[in-house]
Amino acid sequence: MDDRPIGIFDSGVGGLTSINAFSEVLPFESILYFGDTARAPYGSKSPATVRAFSRETAQFLINAGAKILVAACNTSSAAALDYLRESFPGMIVQGIIEPCAEQIAEECTEDDRIGIIATQVTVNSRAYETEIAKHNAELKVFSEACPDFVPLIESGAFESETMEASIQHHIGRLVNECGINVLVLGCTHYPIIRDSIERLFPGLRIIDPSAALAKKTRAILEEEGMLASDWPGWRKFYASDLSPRFLNVIERLGIKGDYSLERHRL
Ligand code: DGL
Repeated sequence: MDDRPIGIFDSGVGGLTSINAFSEVLPFESILYFGDTARAPYGSKSPATVRAFSRETAQFLINAGAKILVAACNTSSAAALDYLRESFPGMIVQGIIEPCAEQIAEECTEDDRIGIIATQVTVNSRAYETEIAKHNAELKVFSEACPDFVPLIESGAFESETMEASIQHHIGRLVNECGINVLVLGCTHYPIIRDSIERLFPGLRIIDPSAALAKKTRAILEEEGMLASDWPGWRKFYASDLSPRFLNVIERLGIKGDYSLERHRL
C-alpha cells in the first residue's frame, strides 16, 4: 500500500480531461495535478524547451510527494519521456502515447485508416507512428498537426467560429485527403472540443487516450504494490497561472467530486 498521491501533469488545462478517467479507474488514489498554464502551449516550442519545462514540473511533483509521474500531455510524452526517466531514475514515469498506441493496436485493423491530431512537437516526433508500429506495423496512420487548437482552447474560445473553421480545416484534410475513419485525440486539450468534432464529423470513431492512460497507471501501481488504501483520496490541482478563463475551462470539463485549486509558479 502507498497512500502518496499520483502526480499528473500537462502544459495547461488539457491533462484535466483525464481526471474523470483516473477517478473512475483509481477511485482511492489521491491526485496532485500540475498544469503549466503560464507557459502553454508547449506544442509550438522546441523539444529542448519542452524537456526543460517538463523536468521542472516533474521536480515540483516529486518534491510535493508524488509516488509516480504521469504525463497527461502528449507533447511532453513525445519529447521528454526518456529524458524524465533518465533524470529521475528512482521514479516511475508513465507517458500517454504508449498506452494509447496499445489501445489503437487492439481496437483497429488493417482496414482502418487512423488519423492522429496532435501538436506540432508530437507530430514531428512521430512518437505515435513509432509506438503503434511496435504492435502492428501494418496499421495505416496519418498525422495532422493542429497548432491553433490549443491556443484557442486555453483562451476559452472553444465554441468560436475560428475554432470551428480550424476543426473543419485540419480534420477535413484527414477525412478528405486520407480517408480516415478513426480519429485519435493525440493532445489532451482536444477532448474539450470533442462535441464540436463529433458534430462536424459525425461518422468518425474517436479515441480519447485518457482511459487507456488511467488503466495503465492502475496496472503499474498494482504490479508494484503501490495502490492506495481503500478510502477516498484527495485531489489538489496546481496551475502556474490562474485566469478566469482557466476556471471557465475547468467548469466545462465537469470534473466530478471535490478538489482544491492553487496557483504555483515554477
Ligand atoms: N495538452 C498537451 C498535449 O497533450 C499539449 C498542448 C500544448 O501545450 O501545446 O499534447
